[in-house]
Amino acid sequence: MRSTPREPGGRGGGASPHPLLKVASVETLYFDRIYALFGVSLEIEEGEIFTVLGPNGAGKTTLLRTIAGLLKDQPKKGEILFRGRRIDGWQPEAVARLGIVYVPEDRGLFRELTVAENLELGLWGRRDDGVRKDLDFVYGMFPILKERARQEAETLSGGEQQMLALGRAMLRRPRLLMLDEPSLGLAPRIARSVYDALGTISRTGTTILLVEQNARLALGVARRGAILEAGRVVLEGTSAEIQANENVREVYLGLGTEEAAVKGWRLYRKRRRW
Ligand SMILES: Nc1ncnc2c1ncn2[C@@H]1O[C@H](COP(=O)(O)OP(=O)(O)OP(=O)(O)O)[C@@H](O)[C@H]1O
Ligand SMILES: [Mg+2]
Repeated sequence: MRSTPREPGGRGGGASPHPLLKVASVETLYFDRIYALFGVSLEIEEGEIFTVLGPNGAGKTTLLRTIAGLLKDQPKKGEILFRGRRIDGWQPEAVARLGIVYVPEDRGLFRELTVAENLELGLWGRRDDGVRKDLDFVYGMFPILKERARQEAETLSGGEQQMLALGRAMLRRPRLLMLDEPSLGLAPRIARSVYDALGTISRTGTTILLVEQNARLALGVARRGAILEAGRVVLEGTSAEIQANENVREVYLGLGTEEAAVKGWRLYRKRRRW
């Protein structure tokens, strides 16, 4: 997909001294008093899939919205750097122009527009000659979108809507694709096919920041990741390291000891040793 680097020193120009995205000690508050992120730090390398896992209310969506510049006057503290350049405090449009594309949990589609019209919006502002090729890539990845081209987005199934959201995001040629719980509400087989598509997208060289509650799916595709709980990173590492962690196995992967498994819901109350 990203076969034409935008500028010298970009992709293909050798190893960069900077991570693609660096989040350093970021603090985000709602209404200037409710802390959602308490000093979150992460580094995402060019070309990888990095997953942020965590339960409801952990701050996952807040993290993506903070990076995208969607929360006014946030982050309150800390820095966000994209390819070595400070972007915290930027307007969302300016962040998007850098190629940081955010697909929100509700997919952000125009429900009353057709599939084709939603995809056209992904092409907005593009004047390059790669449009045809990129559309072919999206329709090749999700042939169902071609069949449904004239159908209104709101009439699509949940899985098809997620495919449309991913397809539209890819037409913006993202440098960093940020996805909020792409498996949410999908039947396991459909979630699997969305994740297969993430693998395909990743192989084009696109960097992906993937927020999920479904640890099994996310760790299956991600190279590295972090666990966010109550606004703090409690664990970070390669997917293998995260999968090997005892707390993760019990709480996120449901692979606990026999005793823990019998107790079921009490796992969530169990004191964790992060
Ligand atoms: N618009 C808002 N106003 C006030 N508080 C908010 C707002 N959005 C989120 N919060 C609070 O910030 C914290 C983090 O929420 P966030 O939505 O980022 O969590 P999450 O990890 O995405 O959860 P989920 O898995 O349920 O989507 C929660 O305590 C939440 O109640
Ligand atoms: Mg969320």
